[in-house]
Amino acid sequence: MTARLIDGAAVAARLRKEIAEQVAQMEAAYGIHPGLATVLVGENPASQTYVRMKHKACQEVGIESFAHNLPTDASQAEVEGLVHELNADPHVHGILVQLPLPKHLDEEAVLSAISLHKDVDGFHPLNMGRLAMRGRDPLFVPCTPYGVMVLLEEAGATFEGANAVVLGRSNIVGKPAALLLMKRDATVTLCHSRTRDLPAICRQADILVAAVGRAQMVKADWVKPGAIVIDVGTNQIDDPTAKRGYRLVGDVDFDEVKEVAGAITPVPGGVGPMTIAMLLKNTLRGAEMTIAEHA
Ligand code: GUN
Repeated sequence: MTARLIDGAAVAARLRKEIAEQVAQMEAAYGIHPGLATVLVGENPASQTYVRMKHKACQEVGIESFAHNLPTDASQAEVEGLVHELNADPHVHGILVQLPLPKHLDEEAVLSAISLHKDVDGFHPLNMGRLAMRGRDPLFVPCTPYGVMVLLEEAGATFEGANAVVLGRSNIVGKPAALLLMKRDATVTLCHSRTRDLPAICRQADILVAAVGRAQMVKADWVKPGAIVIDVGTNQIDDPTAKRGYRLVGDVDFDEVKEVAGAITPVPGGVGPMTIAMLLKNTLRGAEMTIAEHA
């Protein structure tokens, strides 16, 4: 292996420790502890797992968390009504509506109903719009791309003038990651399913962020020697030797690419733990903003 391993689990653990200390200080100084409300509509097992992990992480750092589960057939009015209640609840500093929502619901309307000051996912159209504009900043940065940027910093990336290639244009990861890289003055190429000659474009990248959800798609000959590679993918592949019959791999063929890249995140243990750490950080920030408003 020639690449340096970017240990997301260790970085996330360090952040969680810092957050726990700041939560304790806030409680001592103001008698306030940050609160996160989650809204889960339906019974998507992956979403249930993610939400459970988010609550456990909150508990570990002293953030209060409130779980709201609505049935799959919940109406638009019910979901938005709950969001409005949470907007008005002084114990709640962050609201997270787990995506995807069931098909009959209007996602944009739900996300728009979240108070800008409690939008810890950064998915409110105004926060997204600010992320896209020069000279403006969102109140919150979406958690996974925020974690990607922290790992790039950790790897010692130079952003200014670097060629950054992002694979995947999702609203949750690819698009905001590209916008964040642009804000740092990288030259950004955002690739997607219709992109021609993906390997050639990836080979230009000093920074390569893979967020497409295709197991081990990025091969060694797609990567410029010395590049920093951030793998956002978590894909299950069959593995009869594993206890559960499958294992998790990223969008990057780790075993090949680690011989070419300068630094690389593993899967698991790379970006995954960072998403939750950044959510905790955003929730703390939400509470700090409330305190500042009332100061
Ligand atoms: N679904 C997949 N990732 C996320 C995320 O970061 N936030 C929310 N709310 N839903 C998701």
